[in-house]
Amino acid sequence: MLKTHNCGELRLSDAGKTVTVAGWLQRRRDHGGLIFLDLRDRSGLVQVTADPTVGEAYGVADKARNEYVLQVVGIVRPRPEGTANPNLASGEIEILAQSIVILNSAKTPPIPLDDDGYKTDETTRLKYRYLDLRRARLQKNIILRHKTIKFMRDYLDSQGFIEIETPMLIKSTPEGARDYVVPSRVQCGKFYALPQSPQQLKQLLMVAGYEKYFQIARCMRDEDLRGDRQPEFTQLDLEMSFVERDDVLAVVEGLVTELVPAVVPHKRMFSPFPRMSYAEAMNRYGSDKPDLRFGMEIVDVTEAVKETEFRMFGEVIQAGGVVKCLIAPGCAGYSRKDVDNLTDFIRSAGAKGLGTLAWTSEGIKGTVVKQLKPEEVAEIARITQAKEGDLACIVADKASATCKALGALRLEFRDRLKLAPPDLLAFGWVVDFPMFEWDEEEKHWSFMHHPFTSPRPEHLEILESDPANVMSDAYDLVCNGYELSSGSIRIHRRDVQARIFKCLGYQDEEIQRRFGHILDAFEFGAPPHGGMAPGIDRLVMLLADEPNIREVIAFPKTASASDVMFDAPSDLGEKQLRELHIKIVE
Ligand code: AMO
Repeated sequence: MLKTHNCGELRLSDAGKTVTVAGWLQRRRDHGGLIFLDLRDRSGLVQVTADPTVGEAYGVADKARNEYVLQVVGIVRPRPEGTANPNLASGEIEILAQSIVILNSAKTPPIPLDDDGYKTDETTRLKYRYLDLRRARLQKNIILRHKTIKFMRDYLDSQGFIEIETPMLIKSTPEGARDYVVPSRVQCGKFYALPQSPQQLKQLLMVAGYEKYFQIARCMRDEDLRGDRQPEFTQLDLEMSFVERDDVLAVVEGLVTELVPAVVPHKRMFSPFPRMSYAEAMNRYGSDKPDLRFGMEIVDVTEAVKETEFRMFGEVIQAGGVVKCLIAPGCAGYSRKDVDNLTDFIRSAGAKGLGTLAWTSEGIKGTVVKQLKPEEVAEIARITQAKEGDLACIVADKASATCKALGALRLEFRDRLKLAPPDLLAFGWVVDFPMFEWDEEEKHWSFMHHPFTSPRPEHLEILESDPANVMSDAYDLVCNGYELSSGSIRIHRRDVQARIFKCLGYQDEEIQRRFGHILDAFEFGAPPHGGMAPGIDRLVMLLADEPNIREVIAFPKTASASDVMFDAPSDLGEKQLRELHIKIVE
């Protein structure tokens, strides 16, 4: 080794030792007479002092510049009285350099490597990701990711799971996104699909008798990107045989409950995780991935205005719609302009408009106070328990549109009023999802989770006759407003799986061509099974308090799915295209 010690691990107890350290020069300070070098390796920083009266070190320190790679031999000594740095783990000592070797020089980095570097345009950061990754914040995230994955492996091993790798070059396994495809050289005109998840493979492992499987699985999906989505991402994929829903939830809840204190002990969470149905989540929070860190639930006030003469509400109720509201504490003083802003916001979230009531010290105000009768306003106050200072934001529309719009407004208030405690990880289960949702574009029923999810056995009867009311055995783990994990009890019978494909609009020929392998497998003694797949990127993002998953992925892609460091995707040469039987048509 070119070093005997790690920079950040030296302590007062090492005083007197001669050590060799190596790393990058973080900062050089010339104090006229002495030169101080902050030397950094993965373990942290140590201060190196170069004294012109000691050996050759001073001359080299004078030439060294930021990000040069140095090897330092020196003696560890306590820092002089009053100069210790309490913010640094090695802050009580310094190394008095006897010799310094420049192992490599460095050009001035194109992005600042301190915290200011975050203000740099992200594309430049990603182009020089190997420099970006040097900064402490990213390094901390990448180490946290390692610890998280290690914990998962150890935990699942202790629970009797085994890790099995599955192939990347497979056939389309639908998860609701487009496939990334790979052309075959040896079979002209044929393509592999990269896995959107190992869903079918893990089910086939259950057919094969492995009972408890997991994998740190890379998944590839060609879909529109956003802060919590990457074209390639990592799941903790798991599957179990002979289980019911609660058995799977218990494994994942047990894992997360032990993981959090082990890797981020400063975080709080609820235990056990609260559970609610999909319908309840939509009604109370307007989202199937509710942020449970704060209350501000959506309240149904239809009853209070069911006989109202105010047309905007009355007509909606007549047509079977609802009137619901959110109570925003301390917002009764909102100006006309503030309310207009909220109205614009809620319109962009799909509502037709916004009515308000404000309980102020000068009485009740708001945009609908004159349209409603005093007893209706009083009833709204009773149902919502509104008090002075509160602003009721009221929406009337079809139930789903109302909840969705108020759900978005709830998150807007979360951010404006800082309602979410930053140290809380509010995990929760959402269960009892509908099996299908209507795809307006394609004009047929589409799956809500994926096509291998089992309908509730008691709903098999109405599968074809009443798909809207078929419930599935799917479940999600949510945290702080994100969907962290999805899973389900699976279909394990060929006849049921074939019926589901038919409900989803697949023709017999297509079913056989695309899914014949799994249907065949179900005829050879497939056990009842179920599983789940927590998204590791999203989980680590929340553990690390980062605003997007790119900050916890070593080499992420940009919003247009590019790798700007490699310049990928990129052109192929003529020869390669010919070998792959591909012609580019502009
Ligand atoms: P699902 O498609 O819901 O389920 O994915 C499971 C979890 O993976 C994460 N995730 C993503 N993370 C980053 N970027 C993406 N593009 C992305 N897409 C999904 C989320 C999500 O909750 N086969 C099923 C699981 C199962 O049924 O066992 C599946 O993949 O955290």
